Amino acid sequence: MEEDFFADLEPLETLEELENLEELQDYGDLDVTVLEDPFIARLISTLDRSSLPFLLIDTSLRILWRNDAFPRMFGMESCDAGNHLFDPFDGVPGSSSGPSFTEAIKSPETGFSYRGRVQSSDPHRLTLQANMLVSPLFSEESGHKVHLGYSVCFDDVTEENKNILRGTFLSLLHASQMKDNDTGKHIKRVGEYSRLMAKSLMEDPAFPEVTPEFIDNITFLAPMHDVGKIGTPDDILNKEGPLEPWEWDVMREHTINGAYIMATYPHPMAKQIALSHHERWDGSGYPYNLSEEMIPLSARIVALADVYDALRMKRSYKEGFPHQKAMEIIQTSSESHFDPAMVNCFVKLSGTIREVYELLKDEPEKD
Ligand SMILES: [Fe+2]
Ligand SMILES: [Fe+2]
Repeated sequence: MEEDFFADLEPLETLEELENLEELQDYGDLDVTVLEDPFIARLISTLDRSSLPFLLIDTSLRILWRNDAFPRMFGMESCDAGNHLFDPFDGVPGSSSGPSFTEAIKSPETGFSYRGRVQSSDPHRLTLQANMLVSPLFSEESGHKVHLGYSVCFDDVTEENKNILRGTFLSLLHASQMKDNDTGKHIKRVGEYSRLMAKSLMEDPAFPEVTPEFIDNITFLAPMHDVGKIGTPDDILNKEGPLEPWEWDVMREHTINGAYIMATYPHPMAKQIALSHHERWDGSGYPYNLSEEMIPLSARIVALADVYDALRMKRSYKEGFPHQKAMEIIQTSSESHFDPAMVNCFVKLSGTIREVYELLKDEPEKD
């Protein structure tokens, strides 16, 4: 019975146009008379008060109406009537599992509805991920069902996804720390210096790639720079005294191992930091002798943060340098080891960096 009902829906035949979504950019006039339909009007009065974002869209997937929760979640741009459903998002939802968007909304098997994941990136705010449910809307006209468009509901899953993903990588970080002689405080401090530097670079128009999302990512990923040491033999990692040249070669492989491990993280910054945090501005670093801006910005930030902290730390084979001395060494290495812009940024933050070191200081070693 229900199958027949859907089969009668004339407008659904036109959905073949959806095969090529580009064509949908040519809309013609938006017909908002649909909103006057008594059923739609009742629906709007209910959805208007919902704390979940809702859209009503026409059969060409253009936004006819949205509740206030929608721009609250996704930001104001591209959210208004006349825009295409996918304008506020990074693209059409993927089809890695199950039918694609266009297949789903044309298929009786899915009830002409679609459930999937959308992502919305904005340079001014964190990337959002949401589950999206698209359901067809019909109205009754002289005993005939008429397809009016779709209702679209969203559920923010950003935090949930991030927690699952990051939880997995944190376990990996903890596993690598069990072998490494770096302290847990060291990796926290490196994360914090990197966050502070990125925050300061966001104010600088020379670094448009630094967005709230960049800051969020580097804060989480900077502490993972040495995760590749999980593959370095213990006797080299914990050797007291200087390493032989061949042992250095093995030690340097932690960047490549780290890149393999972090490549599974769904943001390229993860791999960039693990791979390139030992590259130097003048091209004398490793593993690939990258120089200047060939070194990803995230890795140029972490390189400096990591070295500052290493200079300050007391090790079994060395005393830690005081803040001023560490800063002097860093400034002398501007343009050789470090990106001069990163050094300037670090110098500007000098007082705060020193406070972070003091606040997250290692416990004195017990005899
Ligand atoms: Fe390293
Ligand atoms: Fe480190």
